[in-house]
Amino acid sequence: MNEAPIAIFDSGVGGLSVFREIEKLMPNENLIYFGDTARVPYGTRSAETIKKFVKSDLDFLFKFKPKFIVVACGTASCVGAPVLEAECEHYTSVISPSAIAAAKATKNGKIGVISTKATLKSGAFERKIKEIKPDAEVYTQASQMFVNVVENGWIDEDNEIAKAVAKEYLKDLKKAGVDTLILGCTHFPLLSAVIGNEMGKEVKLISSGYETALAAKMDLEKAGLRSTSKKPGTKRCFVSDGVDSFCELTELFLGHRVAKENVELVEVI
Ligand code: DGL
Repeated sequence: MNEAPIAIFDSGVGGLSVFREIEKLMPNENLIYFGDTARVPYGTRSAETIKKFVKSDLDFLFKFKPKFIVVACGTASCVGAPVLEAECEHYTSVISPSAIAAAKATKNGKIGVISTKATLKSGAFERKIKEIKPDAEVYTQASQMFVNVVENGWIDEDNEIAKAVAKEYLKDLKKAGVDTLILGCTHFPLLSAVIGNEMGKEVKLISSGYETALAAKMDLEKAGLRSTSKKPGTKRCFVSDGVDSFCELTELFLGHRVAKENVELVEVI
């Protein structure tokens, strides 16, 4: 029986798409969420800066003595990989779970990855997919503007802005004939309907949120770290800026609004 919390973090609100899946899969676990809303976006920054941010995010979370860390941010997972490796005993990031699911799903061996610019530059998804499936053809596309589309709440499948951005970003991946597409940024699962319509029904979308939550559950079980409590776990949220706007966006990501009283403002440097 291990009642220490699972700590989940992201550059902002996108990681709530992972938090939501973890809540569903492991309702009895105590969860801590940290969104670095003061420093978001990570995806447009240099690797050195992102690594520094990841180190300070971890230092903050370690104060809660978490039993497991979930890196619910594509950019922190890919660019911060060396820091995570050095600092965390038990953790999962979004790279392996998504790459494994994509390698399993593809029939024609052509896998697309959409992500932030920094994630794309790191080459981490591409390397992981090739490691699992050496004959895969990987096509990548930086799609940073999707982050803003989501943050603005333009996620409805009929939203003209979301549709126009998707058309532009996805055209080369469609031309390449990918049959599987990794949503390599934790904001993107919210645009599944728009992206799915643009890519076509035959293209399988891999949501980093669901795959990562599932991997975390399996890793926790394997390490004997699951809680055996029969009660619902506690949930605590921390942000480094803008409690009000965080609460507003929780509705979009979680399907329910987190009350202001349950979100704490912290300084993370
Ligand atoms: N959450 C980030 C990711 O998954 C996207 C937002 C950002 O650029 O920080 O890559």
